[in-house]
Amino acid sequence: MKTNLVIDAEETFFDYEQVARVLDYPREARLPVQEPTTITITSVAEMQQWSRLQKAAGRRIAFVPTMGFLHQGHLSLLEEGRENADLLVLSIFVNPTQFGVGEDYEDYPRDLAADTALAEKAGVNVIFAPSASQMYPAGYASRVDVEGITDLLCGASRPGHFKGVTTVVSKLFNIVQPDLAYFGTKDFQQLAVIRRMVLDLNMPVEIVGMPIVREADGLAMSSRNSYLTFEERRQALVLSKAIAQSRQMVAQGVFDSEKILAEVKAQIENCHKARIDYLKICHQLSLQEQDQVDQDSVLLLAVYIGKTRLIDNGFLLA
Ligand code: PAJ
Repeated sequence: MKTNLVIDAEETFFDYEQVARVLDYPREARLPVQEPTTITITSVAEMQQWSRLQKAAGRRIAFVPTMGFLHQGHLSLLEEGRENADLLVLSIFVNPTQFGVGEDYEDYPRDLAADTALAEKAGVNVIFAPSASQMYPAGYASRVDVEGITDLLCGASRPGHFKGVTTVVSKLFNIVQPDLAYFGTKDFQQLAVIRRMVLDLNMPVEIVGMPIVREADGLAMSSRNSYLTFEERRQALVLSKAIAQSRQMVAQGVFDSEKILAEVKAQIENCHKARIDYLKICHQLSLQEQDQVDQDSVLLLAVYIGKTRLIDNGFLLA
């Protein structure tokens, strides 16, 4: 005889045997439904083996490379990856080769436990979290270098940074073997550099660019926002305000880049904690500076707020 059984959705523990007895289910049906589980792999060889097996079984892999300390920006990439492939891999690796001397490699925020909880919720199948010695063992001597567009903007301020990024992303692609890889337009130049590399080196992976996720007040989310003091957090709004201000000028018919940049610069310099690293209007593909704003124009800026270097960008006409 079957009895009605109300199962409280909040309940975290079931006595499956009892449920099955009451419902008089066949034995196989008593097994709990398998929730998607998240596993963590730290070895390069194991990660490669896992991906090889999944791909041999015909499954498509979506990949989100990160340096961890996950926020909603990272999660938006994971959500999109989850939707568009059979399996989702997240890498968490604070890559030493993309940090310059005196930069924040040591201080970069890390919280693998919190990241793992978020990854589980996001339906990640594998977290790939290698150590620096797994990725760069003794005797390591190779680099991947994209020329030209890496000399500008962040590349000019952070020499060697993009060589570190392209090297680690190439390695991660070889290890994870993804069909799709997700990157945020928050790092506008990084996305352009990765696209160039994938095209030039015939890497069999589709690169998907994702919009910038912002806090309610407009600040672009970033793991580095955690460095900001209360007052700096307030002043950090100069970046998103600069984009809004230049868009407004364009909407009012000002297309002269020099004029726009001069006004925006004055605005930023009003904030005593802000120091401009660069502030430019560039073509979205070549990243070359433009004298006149058109459909392809992006305002790109890097500003130090106290000791913290923040970046942001936005299209001016689109
Ligand atoms: P990380 O700064 O952790 O960023 C990982 C990815 O998340 C990047 O593609 C970045 O553009 C994206 N992202 C960061 N903030 C975002 C936001 N507010 N909205 C949308 N996307 C956002 O970028 C790196 O790590 C590293 O350079 C890496 C590619 C992992 C190589 O080490």
